[in-house]
Amino acid sequence: MIILGMESSCDETSAAVIRMEEGRREILSNIVASQIEIHRLYGGVVPEIASRAHIEAISGITYEALETAGVMLADVDCVAVTSHPGLIGALLVGVNFAKSLAFAHGIPLVAVNHVKAHVAAAYLEYPDLKPPFLALVVSGGHTSYYRVDSYTEFCEIGGTRDDAAGEAFDKIGRVIGMPYPGGAEMDRLAYEGDPTAIKLPSPALLGDTAEFSFSGLKTAALNYINGERQKGREPNAADLAASYTKTVVDAIRRKTELALSQSGAKTLVLAGGVAANSHIRRELEALCRQRGAAFCTPSRSLCGDNGAMVAAAGYFEYQNGTFADTSLNASACD
Ligand code: KG4
Ligand code: ZN
Repeated sequence: MIILGMESSCDETSAAVIRMEEGRREILSNIVASQIEIHRLYGGVVPEIASRAHIEAISGITYEALETAGVMLADVDCVAVTSHPGLIGALLVGVNFAKSLAFAHGIPLVAVNHVKAHVAAAYLEYPDLKPPFLALVVSGGHTSYYRVDSYTEFCEIGGTRDDAAGEAFDKIGRVIGMPYPGGAEMDRLAYEGDPTAIKLPSPALLGDTAEFSFSGLKTAALNYINGERQKGREPNAADLAASYTKTVVDAIRRKTELALSQSGAKTLVLAGGVAANSHIRRELEALCRQRGAAFCTPSRSLCGDNGAMVAAAGYFEYQNGTFADTSLNASACD
């Protein structure tokens, strides 16, 4: 079947067309209109500006996705749209556009949870991947472990008590002068520094729970930067990126090992924008190899927000018979 997936939960407007059925998973198009250049001026996403930019982009990229896929609306079997969680104004643009399109053309509509969509990106590239498994979603808004019981049922078994890992990377990146979002640049710069140069507190919470707190780490790094500047020195950005990254990666590795042991899972799926981080990918792959577990992570282009992952999650909602109608609303919460 052919699914049109639409995503507008944060600062990427995206539409994609995929073909998905038993034994066949094909991305026919995946158009992403990023607003990064607009928000960069402000050092972070400005919600009202994001909503307006989605309104301007959504119609054009939807038709571009259909055209690139060589598909007409009459061929589309299902429209899938991210309805939660995310920025409410941004979500409303996608939800209302998808509802109108589905209603006007008589196409079934399904609502998709953004976090489940990140995980569903893995199904597009690992045809043998099947629940149950353990998923770690690391993004700008989430750092959570899920026991994935079925294609549509997730149970959160751990995660962060405050900030998300992506937010923590972006914040420190910004303070040391990187353009928003600093995550990818922190990843690159970490190779040039000494990971043992600066001692930082681990974001892994003590005890046998798969939980993190990134706020203490962020504050410690900020205090270090401010302390150096007060002494008239500019902190070594590469050493800071390397030490900060190692602290985050070590914590994620330790808590993932715990979550794998406690859940008894034989497969780990790593998803979300921060799953593009090369250090996290390498460490978790090594951890899974050591434990004899399978490791699945979408290619980096499918880690960030995109419509194809929404379409993939929508396929399973459709198979489950969970349809939405014109009363569908967006929600900022999980
Ligand atoms: O999933 P996503 O596109 O949006 C949300 O749902 O939040 O994730 C965006 C986040 C940003 O914080 C960005 O800095 C981070 O993913 N990110 C990275 C890397 N590439 C993107 N963080 C660390 N290393 C990367 N290579
Ligand atoms: Zn996301």
